[in-house]
Amino acid sequence: EKGGYDSYMLKEIYEQPTALTNTLIGRLHDDTGEVNLDIGLDPASFKRISIIACGTAYYAGMVGEYLIEQLARIPVDIDVASEYRYRDPLVSEQTLAIVVSQSGETIDTLEALREAKKGGARTLGIINAKGSSITREVDDTLYIHAGPEIGVASTKAYTSMVSAMLLLALWLGRARGTLGGEQARELLHAARELPRLVEAALAPERVARIQEIAEKYAHASDYLFLGRGVNSPTAYEGALKLKEISYIHAEAYPAGEMKHGPIALIDEDLPVVVVATESRLLEKTISNVQEVRARKGKVIALLSDGDTENAQHADDVIYVPRAHEMVSPVVNAVAMQLLAYFTATALGKDVDKPRNLAKSVTVE
Ligand code: F6R
Repeated sequence: EKGGYDSYMLKEIYEQPTALTNTLIGRLHDDTGEVNLDIGLDPASFKRISIIACGTAYYAGMVGEYLIEQLARIPVDIDVASEYRYRDPLVSEQTLAIVVSQSGETIDTLEALREAKKGGARTLGIINAKGSSITREVDDTLYIHAGPEIGVASTKAYTSMVSAMLLLALWLGRARGTLGGEQARELLHAARELPRLVEAALAPERVARIQEIAEKYAHASDYLFLGRGVNSPTAYEGALKLKEISYIHAEAYPAGEMKHGPIALIDEDLPVVVVATESRLLEKTISNVQEVRARKGKVIALLSDGDTENAQHADDVIYVPRAHEMVSPVVNAVAMQLLAYFTATALGKDVDKPRNLAKSVTVE
């Protein structure tokens, strides 16, 4: 049932092109630049959005926050569910609460949803598991259609959630008139490319290179992950994956925040993974890379294919297929998953049974 793979996690990593196809299928109309989500939600019925989730789903929500504010110009805030449910959040009929969950069973997320409903919010679930508890309590569900995810560390659900967030941001942007037809068509095209780009990211030579890097640094005791903008959540997700399955302590920061504290950690033993793919902010990220190097940190840079110029600033480079910045978190996440996977296997850990973790957290 692992389809010839050593673990569910690896199988699910390789299922991503198919999972993404299923997330996107029937929802994109390139010719008209429209997105069809088949949900009853009135896109004009709210003034602000609250995104609520836990763990990996929270990081997918962070990408969503960025995309929705950029493309649909609606104010978005985001909370981890265990905070939201107890902080007496400001909710009204003008609020759309979006809960993001692979399992649809996470108790904190479910309770936070109930809290939002009490305040009168409209509710939307971005969910993988069909008919799960959360889907029964939200007004609308946008299924991600990633298929069953068994590996405890979430992989394909993450990239499908991020893609669903992109679809939602595009739909809202079109419906509310903030996103022009031309930009919409460009982004739809970029979204449609995702399965192919992720397939390319999983090419054997790329996977082998990531395995080599993972093995080189597997004995580090700490790791730092940095990213900016729409890829700061990629850094968080990379750190979470690594902690969960390799038990190496990892922290993530938005790259620009490094100098406000974490820079003190940098020495010659610290690998620093920097997401430095094609972006409007690439130059700024590269200057952060130089700050790491000046302190002898080991830089592992994620660069877009062909970026040989910035390779000189890194100790090791993971090249990823070129993607439009707005869709790049999906492609970049794959490299993060593989880095964590091969680090854990190099250390002899059982990636499908990470200690202390359960697939779905139905207790508080
Ligand atoms: C990370 C992971 C967890 C879950 C979190 C939320 O790899 O799997 O952080 O993302 O427990 O779970 P769902 O999405 O089912 O609500």
